[in-house]
Amino acid sequence: MIRKYVYGKPFETEAVVQKIEACEGTMPYFDAYKETDLAGGSAEMEQSVLVNMTEAQLTEMNVKSMKSGFRYVMDKTDVVYGLGENIRGINKRGWHYTSYADDNPHHHEDVQRLYGAHNFFIVDGKKRFGIFLDYPGEITFDVGYTHKDEFRIFLKDMNFVAYVIEGSSLKDIVKQFRQMIGRSYIAPRWALGYCQSRWGYENAEDVRYVVKQYRDNHVPLDMICVDIDYMDGYRNFTIDEKAYPAFEELVQEMRQQKVHLVPIIDAGVKADPDYYVDVEGLEKGYFCKKEDGTEFVGTVWPGECHFPDFLNPEARKWFGHHYSFLLNKGIDGFWNDMNEPAIFYSKRQMSEMKEKIKIMFEDSLPTDQEIDSLAWKLQDLKNSRKDYQSFYHEVNGEQVCHDKVHNLYGYNMTRAAGEAFEELMPDKRILMYSRSSYTGMHRYGGIWYGDNYSWWSHLKMNLSMLPAMSMQGFLYSGADLGGFGSDVTEDLLLRWLELGIFTPLMRNHSAKGTREQEVYQFTDIDAFGRIIGLRYALLPYIYSEYMKACLRDEMLFRPLAFDYEEDTFASQVEDQLMLGDSIMIAPVLQQNATGRYVYLPEEMKLVRFRSSTDYEEEILQAGHHYVTAALDEVVIFIRPDKLLVLSNGGESVEDVDFDNVKTIAFVKKEAVYEYYQDDGNSRYYDKEEHFRKIVEK
Ligand code: GLC
Repeated sequence: MIRKYVYGKPFETEAVVQKIEACEGTMPYFDAYKETDLAGGSAEMEQSVLVNMTEAQLTEMNVKSMKSGFRYVMDKTDVVYGLGENIRGINKRGWHYTSYADDNPHHHEDVQRLYGAHNFFIVDGKKRFGIFLDYPGEITFDVGYTHKDEFRIFLKDMNFVAYVIEGSSLKDIVKQFRQMIGRSYIAPRWALGYCQSRWGYENAEDVRYVVKQYRDNHVPLDMICVDIDYMDGYRNFTIDEKAYPAFEELVQEMRQQKVHLVPIIDAGVKADPDYYVDVEGLEKGYFCKKEDGTEFVGTVWPGECHFPDFLNPEARKWFGHHYSFLLNKGIDGFWNDMNEPAIFYSKRQMSEMKEKIKIMFEDSLPTDQEIDSLAWKLQDLKNSRKDYQSFYHEVNGEQVCHDKVHNLYGYNMTRAAGEAFEELMPDKRILMYSRSSYTGMHRYGGIWYGDNYSWWSHLKMNLSMLPAMSMQGFLYSGADLGGFGSDVTEDLLLRWLELGIFTPLMRNHSAKGTREQEVYQFTDIDAFGRIIGLRYALLPYIYSEYMKACLRDEMLFRPLAFDYEEDTFASQVEDQLMLGDSIMIAPVLQQNATGRYVYLPEEMKLVRFRSSTDYEEEILQAGHHYVTAALDEVVIFIRPDKLLVLSNGGESVEDVDFDNVKTIAFVKKEAVYEYYQDDGNSRYYDKEEHFRKIVEK
């Protein structure tokens, strides 16, 4: 059951597609809560008085700062799931998270926000309920950070919609939420192939070289991403003719090798009187404007940029149709970047900063502390709140300050593309994944989890994020395998790929200046080939489960507790996941480990793969086990009376035979599997003939 509560005058985010009548009163479970700098009085006294006080009364009492929100007192055993793309574990308890999309390449353990804003969570314990706060501005979720047993939520203002969801199980709560927000974006099947990417393929020859290495070494490959270097001066919808001459031919040449070229598109449009997109945008008035009616200018990769007003449907349509520049060249996949939007700095902020620095250095030499504080201040120029507060969107003829709707920017950039694809290519699926997102964007594209590091802790974080992303409906998603920033090691890349073979988006991406991390750069190319080859063998299962999760509004990756609700230990397990209907995965996440401890909530069949044809099976009883998994081995666990479907693999998705599959089953009585297959490319997903039953006795 879903109950809807409307507070104040919410902004229409279009995150929710189901029509739900609003209830009277205030949302259950959470009490109204105010936090001030007022001292004295017991917390209870303070709250009962505070929540009823007016702004004027509080000012009179000399209250310096005040936050309004809600509070839920958690039971010791309560577990909190959700909040999408965020740091820390599967259980979100014990930290505070902020929904305010951020271009933050440092995913340290103490950051509060990343690129997306996903305001859906479930509290599971004495009471069990899910809540989605539909609010496009900043929210803080303090999940036992300030007070370890209190879950406090603060919103910038009290204009929002709360959806409270109760259900018969954790899965049921998620399913209701997902039905409410609409079907997830469905990627073409080829986009579940392996993708090689790097910010640093500077020209067509670099691209050809990478693809040749993969093909020569017989390591499967379906995609290669081109980063900002393919554009002319980082201008969207242009090609650098020197570095990438005859682009169309390159696209065709890649297609002949069964590889898709996937270009990046950035949110900012270079401010340049000689650039057709900028000229058009200015003429039509489609860029975000300042209070004085002139266009806001911020600096990103191309230098000074204008920012399309994606909240304006006409501007959205205009920008979306520009993708045809590349579609017409044979491109069928894109990634949308820098769409929080990332702003390195604005002229105004930079002038103020220069002034501050001048003053600092004027009379005396700065102290060590002053130098440190200067470094911080310079960082503050990036993605500055003041900039976000200084420009506006036009929504139904009204000017809306960007800061209030910040989280909708990346969503609507990707929606611009998604809506255009539906119009321009109605019969074909186009690959799209974005960096920034909000609930609702999951209908138009997938996401990648941004600029992580080549750290073992980030491999673990990748695993923790997967079920949270599944809850939010971002089923086509994945992290930069091997890590984006810093230098990867061979073992980390191999272990990371051993998780990556299960994620729909399987992309190895890294930053300029870091160690090159294409798999052929390392010693044991054979091991990489076998592991990536295993992905292709597992594709019938992964694609089938991915599609069923999309079509039925279900989770692809689940924490163990979602399948074993009665098992009191299951909610403690932070490093294993249920994947689809049949299996549990437990990747090795630690350097130099030759195995790991695994918890089995029930008897399962372990399959230890060295490749798709070289594997061994063993039945393990429920309980705790130490399971060996050498550097080039992947262990998976099949549940009782469930089975895995496998193909003979291939070097590209096109080569995979999805019709003639073999099975590995754990038969107790009878293993049954519902196998989904379609052409992988058209948009007719729901046909009955796509489903078939496979039975093993
Ligand atoms: C951002 C993206 C990264 C990309 C880089 C250059 O940092 O997150 O993936 O490689 O920009 O375009």
